Amino acid sequence: MRIGILGSGLMGGKLGTLFARAGHEVVFSYARSQEKLNRLARDARGNARAGTPREAAEEADAVLLAVHWSRMDDVLKQAGDLSGKVIVTCSLPMNADNTELVVAHMSSGAEALARKVPKARIVSAFNTVPSELLFGVFQARRKAARPSLVYCGDDSASKGIATALIRDLGFDPVDAGPLRIARYTEPFALLVAQLAYEGKGGPELAYRFERFD
Ligand SMILES: NC(=O)c1ccc[n+]([C@@H]2O[C@H](COP(=O)([O-])OP(=O)(O)OC[C@H]3O[C@@H](n4cnc5c(N)ncnc54)[C@H](OP(=O)(O)O)[C@@H]3O)[C@@H](O)[C@H]2O)c1
Repeated sequence: MRIGILGSGLMGGKLGTLFARAGHEVVFSYARSQEKLNRLARDARGNARAGTPREAAEEADAVLLAVHWSRMDDVLKQAGDLSGKVIVTCSLPMNADNTELVVAHMSSGAEALARKVPKARIVSAFNTVPSELLFGVFQARRKAARPSLVYCGDDSASKGIATALIRDLGFDPVDAGPLRIARYTEPFALLVAQLAYEGKGGPELAYRFERFD
């Protein structure tokens, strides 16, 4: 697939690199320096290049949206018309100092995004994993026991694309349901981060869901 990266920081830089290493064509965009985008494209060691947000979105099978909430309107404006596009968003609707969700409980960042770009097909994914884990999971991807990764969205074709990308990165995709479920997965992402950054001796998060008839 051709994947446009909108936001080439901790998440976008790593996810884009791994998408390229998994065999996808990647365009890195939206960082504060062109040199950083060029370096990411060079170091990805795959089919990757640097471009503008508009170039990243053009002809993309999916765009990955990985910016701070405060940059959302700017990056969407620079990307241009995203009608019909599959947008995989890992962005969380955080305040300026990353301490609180500014959209929560009755809605989610993913749903707010869907209202901003009503003709795009939004999937919320990858926001429940700290960026530091991505390379290790990718390296271990051929092992049978893969870590689960929850995603949600309203459009089945776009969810199929997200599922393929999640598998390519070494995770076992878990469909959590429609996009409104992001109002639960986004706070869950903060719980994961809270536990993950406790350091050595902190708890490891493992979960198993049972289905009841
Ligand atoms: N990091 C994680 O582990 C993690 C986990 C789950 C979810 N998330 C969510 O994922 C999203 C991205 O997080 P992140 O940690 O990847 O953030 P980040 O490292 O700050 O990346 C954001 C990207 O936006 C670029 N940017 C910021 N301001 C800009 C401007 N004025 N013009 C052009 N580019 C600009 C940054 O450029 P530079 O590269 O030049 O700084 C960077 O490439 C956030 O919504 C976050 O809540 C992150």
